[in-house]
Amino acid sequence: MSRILITAALPYANGGLHFGHIAGAYLPADVYARFSRLMKHEVAFICGSDEFGVPITINAERMGQSFQEYVDVYFHEHQKTFRLLSISFDHYSRTTRPGHKKITQEVFLSLLNNGHIEERVVPQLYSEKEGRFLADRYVKGECPHCGYLEARGDECPKCAASYESTELLNPVSKITHSPLQLKDTKHWFLRFDHFKQQLLKWLDQKSWKGNVKNFARFYAENVRARAITRDSTWGVPLPLSNTEGKVFYVWFDAPLGYISMTKEWAEMMGRPELWKDFWLSSETKYVQFIGKDNIPFHAVFFPAMLMGQDLPYKKVDHLPANEFLLLEGKQFSKSDGWFIDLHLFFDRYECDQIRYYLALHAPETQDTEFSWDLFQAACNDDLVGKWGNLANRTLTFLQRHCEGCIPAYRDLMEIDQTFLKDIKQITQEITAHYDSFSLKKAARAVMKLASVGNVYFNEKKPWQEIKQKSNKQDVFNTLYCCLEALKALALVSYPIMPNK
Ligand code: 2FM
Ligand code: ZN
Repeated sequence: MSRILITAALPYANGGLHFGHIAGAYLPADVYARFSRLMKHEVAFICGSDEFGVPITINAERMGQSFQEYVDVYFHEHQKTFRLLSISFDHYSRTTRPGHKKITQEVFLSLLNNGHIEERVVPQLYSEKEGRFLADRYVKGECPHCGYLEARGDECPKCAASYESTELLNPVSKITHSPLQLKDTKHWFLRFDHFKQQLLKWLDQKSWKGNVKNFARFYAENVRARAITRDSTWGVPLPLSNTEGKVFYVWFDAPLGYISMTKEWAEMMGRPELWKDFWLSSETKYVQFIGKDNIPFHAVFFPAMLMGQDLPYKKVDHLPANEFLLLEGKQFSKSDGWFIDLHLFFDRYECDQIRYYLALHAPETQDTEFSWDLFQAACNDDLVGKWGNLANRTLTFLQRHCEGCIPAYRDLMEIDQTFLKDIKQITQEITAHYDSFSLKKAARAVMKLASVGNVYFNEKKPWQEIKQKSNKQDVFNTLYCCLEALKALALVSYPIMPNK
């Protein structure tokens, strides 16, 4: 038995979840957590909502809600979605809880004491009217490259140039439309460059998917100091005097949520020291499930933050980052209205149907399309036609001819023995697929097991044999072997289809 820490990217409390999120991170994480528990490992499966950051403050302001009210809505909505999908977190928390502030500040102070933090004064756009500095998403102006009048704070929709918001010509606030001035402000920079060699060496030892590793290496090669603070009232405040109005950048505090939430979980279980077994022990296996857009933060920036600590925090061992699941060629997007309504979906279909489909067509190595035709095929051809068929014909036969009891087997023929061996071998194959985070292969092999069972049933023809009194034992043997297959099927299907 070993100890396994499993985390899934903390979703922003800034909009609903869709199948893209589920396929990318939460289903693979849940499958792995269920598989690991089945293998009797000690598992902590931790997640929660990511509740700070500028997009949240902008949307809350637009809706006329307080920031806390706004994130409360999505915290609850996400939990509901995860319940609908049977995601079995051991703990689901949020970054606005007090324990999270504590750990974020501690990690910062440790980086500061170890000489990895630098104060710098930088010019930022300031609104006299609003009395605050505005992040680029709050700002618009003229493109510094093509002069387009409606350019965004960070890039121009006309010429696609990207730039700092401080380069915009005639910048104005998106909220009040009032003009903005450049004003000096102090920020705290983390010298990520201090960790460059350590990161590259650490990455070299990883056996991650090629694209994940290459992407991570590219970021590690180019690390530089980055500001980890922002001028805002919504975020974890700095633990230093005279820093009112300064909070940590959301990508500094968010990954620390994995630690603070594990700690909170341990406390809730009445074993407050338990988090250390997961986070401070080199024996732990740590697997992070994320979408590909989160690779730099998980493979480079968060590990660097941990490298700068005095405590020997566990860094990620496996990073099975997924590609995107698309809906008719475009990324799912709730804000653009491009998604499948989950609540309507669950009025018609069951959780295990979509879990099976998303596992079978998991976007593991390339962007993948969601398709209703393939969903129909997965349900009708596989779940009903193979899995359901084997279960149904075995159990009806058993009911009819064995009073629903498991018959004793005797004198198995070669065909029976081969079938029992096949069951074992395919089960081992599936175990290996789960172990290497290959949902697609695992789902396919589960269905292969059902198919092999159906072929066996067809070859043994128990419906003919039962008519001959002398062949009754052979029918019992057939049913016994089919039940063996069903037992194996139930077990190997469980991580993907926990309800069935
Ligand atoms: O991309 C996102 O949805 C981020 N909220 C993920 C954060 S993961 C972690 F580091 F907290
Ligand atoms: Zn432009």
